[in-house]
Amino acid sequence: MQLVHTSTDLRARLQGERTIAFVPTMGNLHEGHIALVKQARSEGSCVVVSIFVNPLQFGPHEDFDKYPRTLEADCAKLHGYADVVFAPAVGEMYPETQTLFVEPPPMAAELCGAFRPGHFRGMATVVLKLFNLVQPHVALFGKKDYQQLAIIRQMVRQFNLPIRIVGGETVRAEDGLALSSRNQYLTPQERTKSAFLYQTLADVRSALSAGSKELAGLERNAMEALASQGWQVEYVAIRAQDGLAIPQAGERRLVILAAARLGATRLIDNLEVGL
Ligand code: PAJ
Repeated sequence: MQLVHTSTDLRARLQGERTIAFVPTMGNLHEGHIALVKQARSEGSCVVVSIFVNPLQFGPHEDFDKYPRTLEADCAKLHGYADVVFAPAVGEMYPETQTLFVEPPPMAAELCGAFRPGHFRGMATVVLKLFNLVQPHVALFGKKDYQQLAIIRQMVRQFNLPIRIVGGETVRAEDGLALSSRNQYLTPQERTKSAFLYQTLADVRSALSAGSKELAGLERNAMEALASQGWQVEYVAIRAQDGLAIPQAGERRLVILAAARLGATRLIDNLEVGL
């Protein structure tokens, strides 16, 4: 495994590689990231992982400064799974002020986008830059960040990027909590409560599978259940899997998405439902 920090070294290392499978990350890796990296091995002969905490996708009051940076431990975890780790400095990714951006679709202003203005614009912009640097054949993203994956799929289609996008299943702790770098912000008491987000989504899934058609009612009940347990709820929404549109009557491929805060920590999760 080779660690490179500059785009020049990256290009030199990737020269002549046949098929490149790419997993972009912000580091502080956990089993969710590693599952994507293992999946990448079956998609390409050279597995590239990027580690870059992207300032462009953090809001002014978000956790950019305190986001955990653990490059050494991350490289140890990637050993044997990744061929190349690309860990650029901020000045390497943004040698001049970024004045051009990927303008994401209106859907990016909904759900998480409604609570994190500019987040998906910054995310899509850095992913396009990383795609241009790595020039992968395949790129893998977790379904944990479902809206992010949906926006990347649209970006790749609409900008004709010759990259196949693969979604990886969400890796969870035993009690159902989706693994996230932000889970470590939870106090022990909050960690105990945190599985309730997954349980709430699972209850909505059961109701949908049992034939309930009252989507707005299900969303409202789920938000009330979370609020009654001390969560500050941003949204619970039932959408169509493709493009995250509000479902038409009879839509069979649904996804239930939620974002809520427990104390100072914002958690997101989602569950797909096939009817
Ligand atoms: P980051 O939060 O580090 O996540 C990197 C990748 O790991 C994303 O595709 C994310 O969906 C996936 N992932 C995170 N937790 C997961 C879990 N529990 N199970 C499965 N996959 C999981 O997402 C980003 O970084 C950034 O926005 C990025 C795309 C790198 C652009 O800066």
